[in-house]
Amino acid sequence: MEEKKPKLITSVSNEQRKIPPKENFSSKAHIKSEEEYNKIYQESIKTPEKFWAEKAKQLHWFKKWDTIFTWDPKNIKATWFKGGKINVSYNCLDANLKKIGNKIALIWQGEPENDVIKITYKELYNEVCKFSNVLKKKGIKKGDRVCIYMPMIPELAIAMLACTRIGAIHNIVFGGFSATSLKDRILDSQCKLLITADGGFRNGKIIPLKSIADEAISQCDCIESVIVAKRTKQEIKMEKGRDTYWDEEMNLVSNICKPEHMDAEDPLFILYTSGTTAKPKGVLHTTGGYLTYVYQTFKWVFDYHEEDIYWCTADIGWVTGHSYVIYGPLANGATTLMYEGSPTYPDNDRFWNIIEKFKVTIFYTAPTAIRALAKFGEEPVNKHNIKSLRLLGTVGEPINPEAWMWYYKNIGKEKCPIVDTWWQTETGGILITPLPGAFTLKPSSANKPFPGIEPAIFKEDGTEAAPNEGGYLVIKKPWPGQMRTVYGDHQRFVETYYSRFQGVYFTSDAARKDVDGDFWLMGRVDDVISIAGHRIGTAEVESALVGHKDVAEAAIVPIPDEIKGQAIYAFVTLKEGVKKTEKLKQELIQHVAKEIGPIAKPAKVQFADALPKTRSGKIMRRILKVIATGEGDIGNVTTLADPSIVDALMKDRQ
Ligand code: WTA
Repeated sequence: MEEKKPKLITSVSNEQRKIPPKENFSSKAHIKSEEEYNKIYQESIKTPEKFWAEKAKQLHWFKKWDTIFTWDPKNIKATWFKGGKINVSYNCLDANLKKIGNKIALIWQGEPENDVIKITYKELYNEVCKFSNVLKKKGIKKGDRVCIYMPMIPELAIAMLACTRIGAIHNIVFGGFSATSLKDRILDSQCKLLITADGGFRNGKIIPLKSIADEAISQCDCIESVIVAKRTKQEIKMEKGRDTYWDEEMNLVSNICKPEHMDAEDPLFILYTSGTTAKPKGVLHTTGGYLTYVYQTFKWVFDYHEEDIYWCTADIGWVTGHSYVIYGPLANGATTLMYEGSPTYPDNDRFWNIIEKFKVTIFYTAPTAIRALAKFGEEPVNKHNIKSLRLLGTVGEPINPEAWMWYYKNIGKEKCPIVDTWWQTETGGILITPLPGAFTLKPSSANKPFPGIEPAIFKEDGTEAAPNEGGYLVIKKPWPGQMRTVYGDHQRFVETYYSRFQGVYFTSDAARKDVDGDFWLMGRVDDVISIAGHRIGTAEVESALVGHKDVAEAAIVPIPDEIKGQAIYAFVTLKEGVKKTEKLKQELIQHVAKEIGPIAKPAKVQFADALPKTRSGKIMRRILKVIATGEGDIGNVTTLADPSIVDALMKDRQ
């Protein structure tokens, strides 16, 4: 092999499998071939404004825009469809009433098996209008911030749509966050009203949301009123004059509420990004561009057709839930399924049970869930008839080829394409993804940019990397779904996303583009490990470890090494029943050496019963780094799904 110079980020993946699109899928798809995609893509890049304006026209506008796009490169300010008047709830509800008023908009499955509610578009419209009137009665006006801290129940969907109807800006805080996190998010955006519930069900237990909320708002002077939906019916405290019940309020209002005519650039929502060390960032999205973007990506990426039953397992508290449980699907008139509980309750076949029960056709989940469920083998899957599925998706982190293949074979039965969708809270919607009727899939590659999106791989000096050369993923031009600012701190927006490279959006992800133009994500740049001048993407080493037959999950972090600069410390979770032996450790080290070369060999391996994860399933490497190096502070663990894991890991430190 030829000797290569040390590169910025060295890609060590050697995945070669290719899975061409199936004729019976392509023939019915919106985009039927790679040629068709290429044509649309080229046009969209040549004349992006024309492309996006055509897509925006599919939505309902009270008044057409004055300009399609403006860009102020000095202040990093973009506008899309400025001057246009539009309303999100109108597009998700009113616009669907005539044709599909009696179609099911929302299927809700509670964690207890018999808790099922199906809501038609007409019914959802009524509920949203009523709740909009409740908000108005509480003094909420256009531009006010409303915090939503709820379990996955229909009231959550109703509340967010009602905010959009009257022009209030929602700030949804994931129902698993602590009182401190909730307080920080309420204060930063100065919310006037909080919508919560008595509690939520998770793994058969009750999460006492109202009492957590009480603790948070005891330190928030900005909150004037609290509305409480009843879910778990346990005893809670209600503060007189401040707190009222959802159902009682709903009995007192009419079901007629005119939608506010919002400017396309009026704020739609704020969503705080989690897991970072400093203060959370309030990612601000606006109205017209965001809706156009999620509308169009939902249609093409999930190849949506009107008979589909679509299920995205994300919690609405995360961006995936905003864009692809609610806004994208409803703007398309789809039936969207919302599930309250955990993937393994009451048993590890719960997902497959729900797919069978509602004949789900499109299923969108996270690699972490796939790996967790694959750990139980095929038996739980084979108990169910999941033949209704026609398309699968993943999001949130790079998916290793083994998990991809497991998903493809055992869930998709080798007939469903998988869309591995790359995007971020900041991007509003999917940017890099297969289009399922058109693309040849490569396990672990997110394939190509969505039309209108221009990604590139930059080297340290801002020049473009060669094919297969790892580098920083950037997006060269603005797109309609992009965040506009960090709420209350535009300078932070500019510094975080637009200062690394002049004039282009910096994603903080490492990636490479292969000779076919397909993108391979390699993890965040903050997760890149530098060994003897080679930077190795954590995702790729982890993927190699997970490729070993005994490994369920793995996470690697750098530890200091006198000669190489950094070395790899690996945390490995084994499959059920596998013994933790020294011999196996050596075998794993050799396995990585064999899969990707001796340079990527872990210096240390620690067996862990579980890894520290955020509630959205992201491994918290910040914590693993402290454990592995024995240096620094563990810091705040309140965002962890299970904080007790940390002590166990500390004890077994190598
Ligand atoms: C990672 C979630 C590889 C990436 C929508 C990104 C992915 C971060 C993928 C954003 C994917 C998301 N392949 N990596 N398909 N999707 N990521 O803001 O590192 O929660 O920067 O948004 O997740 O996470 P966020």
